[in-house]
Amino acid sequence: MDKYLKNYGQWIDETWDKLDKKLSKVAVKSREKIPYTTVDGVHDNRGETDPSWWTNGFWGALMWIMYIGTKNDVYKDTAVRAEELLDAAFDKFDGLHHDVGFMWNISSGTNYRLFGDKEAKKRWDYANALLASRFNAEGGFVRAWPSWGENADNTGVTIIDCMMNIPMLYRASVLAKDDRFKFIAETHARMTMRDHIRPDGSVHHIVRHDPHTGDVVENIAGQGYAVGSSWSRGQAWAVYGFVLSYLHTQNEEYLDVAKKVAHYFIANVAATDYLPLVDFRSPDEPVMYDSTAGACAACGLIEIARCVPEHEKKIYIDAAMKMLVAIEKEWCNWEENEDAVLMMGTEAYHKEDGHHIPIIYGDFFFAEALLKLKGNDFLIW
Ligand code: GLY
Repeated sequence: MDKYLKNYGQWIDETWDKLDKKLSKVAVKSREKIPYTTVDGVHDNRGETDPSWWTNGFWGALMWIMYIGTKNDVYKDTAVRAEELLDAAFDKFDGLHHDVGFMWNISSGTNYRLFGDKEAKKRWDYANALLASRFNAEGGFVRAWPSWGENADNTGVTIIDCMMNIPMLYRASVLAKDDRFKFIAETHARMTMRDHIRPDGSVHHIVRHDPHTGDVVENIAGQGYAVGSSWSRGQAWAVYGFVLSYLHTQNEEYLDVAKKVAHYFIANVAATDYLPLVDFRSPDEPVMYDSTAGACAACGLIEIARCVPEHEKKIYIDAAMKMLVAIEKEWCNWEENEDAVLMMGTEAYHKEDGHHIPIIYGDFFFAEALLKLKGNDFLIW
């Protein structure tokens, strides 16, 4: 990989140092919070207002990424505190969903893997049990959400994002020596290949299945522009999620899917100077971006580059670097009066108060990408 990164060595080191300089202070300042975004430059506390919010594991995980890259105990201390604060989510059991993978795999899972912490293991085991319990054995998929009230039947709903939750199950299989977890993850991954991935490499965000047969009933637009459009973060979940499935199983089919979606992503993002739009199939106006899609996709592209033969690597590493450099130049905020790093994240195409804001997982994936580029191969997923 080094030969493909030689022109970027200085950029990688300088950007990591800026990240460390800023986050080592923010880690102390926001120690008693689980942030989601910032308000007037100050981290909010989503852990307090919505304990089971799906992103609540990313803050602790960001701290772990920085700890792994620096060995600075300030990050470890805040990561451990974030995990304790996250316990409030277990009390809100009925608010939980398939994103227990996002919430506890990269937070408690990391603490357990790094330090063998028993409390962290308990949390991680509990999250695995919760995720496995969402498996619909008849339909062959992991159900995304509980039903929201009497009129919202989510029994048959799957979403592309879940490809980032199932890596926890692969790990559980190995660590618990119990193949049931892997069976669930692989069954879900095969469903996703079949029902979410379109022939051109774009992705359906939400699919409703018949809960008894697994047959597709309808595609639902979700956070993109419309049914049939191409929500860029969903594309990114697929790029990174499928290469993760490959890394955990060595099944080449998953790597092929990751590459196919990556090719679609790269072709689209190249058309906008490597700054990803929220949706690759949306009207020309308004122009709306999503930095988080780029940061997450970059992590997936770097992992693909690590897996493919020599003569393929350049395609993926070049695209990841062009995206990260463009994102850093245009959208990173290194000022001390702003707690977040990555600006310009977007929650959903049609959610106007969630456009072009900092979102915690943008910072997480940006840091994760940099850690990989520095040559560290700890796979947090
Ligand atoms: N998992 C929901 C999102 O990506 O916004």
